[in-house]
Amino acid sequence: MREPRFYIRAFGCQMNQHDAGKMANLLHHAGWRPAEDSDGAELVVVHTCSVREKAEHKLYTELGWLLQRKKTEAGLVIGVGGCVAQQEGEALLRRFPGLDFVFGPQNLVHLPELVRDAQARTRGLRVDYDDDPQARFELPELHPGFAATSPGRAYVTVMEGCDLFCAYCVVPRTRGREVSRSSEQILGEVRALAAAGISEVTLLGQTVNAYGRPRPGMARGELGFAELLRRVADVPGIRRIRFTSPHPSFVGDDLVQAYRDLPQLCPHLHLPVQSGSARVLADMNRRYRPEEYVETAAKLREARPGLALTTDLIVGFPTETREDFAETLQLMATVRFTDSFSFKYSERPGTPAQRRGLAELEPGEAQARLEEVQRLQASLTLAAHRARVGETVEVLVDGESRRSGVQRSGRDPQNRLVNFSAARDIARGEYARVAIEDYTPHSLLGRETPAGL
Ligand code: 5AD
Ligand code: SF4
Repeated sequence: MREPRFYIRAFGCQMNQHDAGKMANLLHHAGWRPAEDSDGAELVVVHTCSVREKAEHKLYTELGWLLQRKKTEAGLVIGVGGCVAQQEGEALLRRFPGLDFVFGPQNLVHLPELVRDAQARTRGLRVDYDDDPQARFELPELHPGFAATSPGRAYVTVMEGCDLFCAYCVVPRTRGREVSRSSEQILGEVRALAAAGISEVTLLGQTVNAYGRPRPGMARGELGFAELLRRVADVPGIRRIRFTSPHPSFVGDDLVQAYRDLPQLCPHLHLPVQSGSARVLADMNRRYRPEEYVETAAKLREARPGLALTTDLIVGFPTETREDFAETLQLMATVRFTDSFSFKYSERPGTPAQRRGLAELEPGEAQARLEEVQRLQASLTLAAHRARVGETVEVLVDGESRRSGVQRSGRDPQNRLVNFSAARDIARGEYARVAIEDYTPHSLLGRETPAGL
């Protein structure tokens, strides 16, 4: 008999994408196999994001299709996980009678039993917070295939949750309190990944560089974040280390020093700034001033020349005036971000901003600000790419570029997309030395250069 198939549709951040791998691992242990697409699956899990309203809407579209399908396929099991699940809980089960189960990001471990119950026609709800904060890390050993994002690269969770309560952000409500994972577990996982041929790891956490700091009711972790990076760098076979997402307030001198000392630490940092206005940052409860951010950026670049900085920006926060917004543009130009993700403020239920009754800006104005940020970013990105022409970089190959069959593509240490031509066949997961000759708005272009040239 054919083994039953599952399909996980994950929206949202890298944490969610990685959760999907952990869930696949759990289901694999329970005898399930992955399907190519949701049509070929008897179990479909939608792993949701609620960070912005638009992300939340994706669930309702997806669920609409699935529930329609269930009308003719009674055996189909449908579950909803992730941040919307945590936020809405039982309301989702009430609203969608065809939905089998709902579970929050801290309840992944219960997935196999929720599926079994669903097959016995019992609907399930697991959105509880465990008394033991470490319980969420008690998952079966992660098969490297389920941790990998592409050949050679994998994610590793180091902490979860967030205690910072930025005014706009729903995460502390959905992902819960900040908890660091033991370094022993983390390093064990990194070693297993390296042994399986993974050479690039991305350490994950909502405020990843707060790793190990003492929290109420929790002893100080045995290591701080910078020390953790050093231990990961010591693992044989690990050539590249990245991490996401850090908070500017926890970029201390020890982390700056790590950029000096650790060649494995990639010269790219995604450091969300959100706004360039001191007043808006204070209203957002971001805990730093724009000039502190600029100073941090300068220190990092001094420690690691060529460091690429990317960021997240929110435009149209309720108290943002035209002048505040101009300061954001100014900060972008000062720091010269290589790239950025920019978003219009979106009111989220239960956040401090929503409880304070702060209203969204007029949509036309927010949209105009977003477009202005994106225009400026496009020119900064182009300038950053232009400055790279003439360099020779190491590219971790992850596929054929769309442009033609002889072309390869991959990521350089700065995490830029590089499309290049090569005289030989290079497998995904291997490294190539590439001379950068040209660029586009979204990539660098080059050709493979044999070592020694
Ligand atoms: N509205 C708009 N953008 C948001 N982000 C988080 N919450 C909101 C919100 N309510 C953005 C921030 C964050 C990124 C992951 O999403 O820029 O860094
Ligand atoms: Fe979305 Fe935040 Fe949840 Fe990630 S943690 S899925 S970004 S709401």
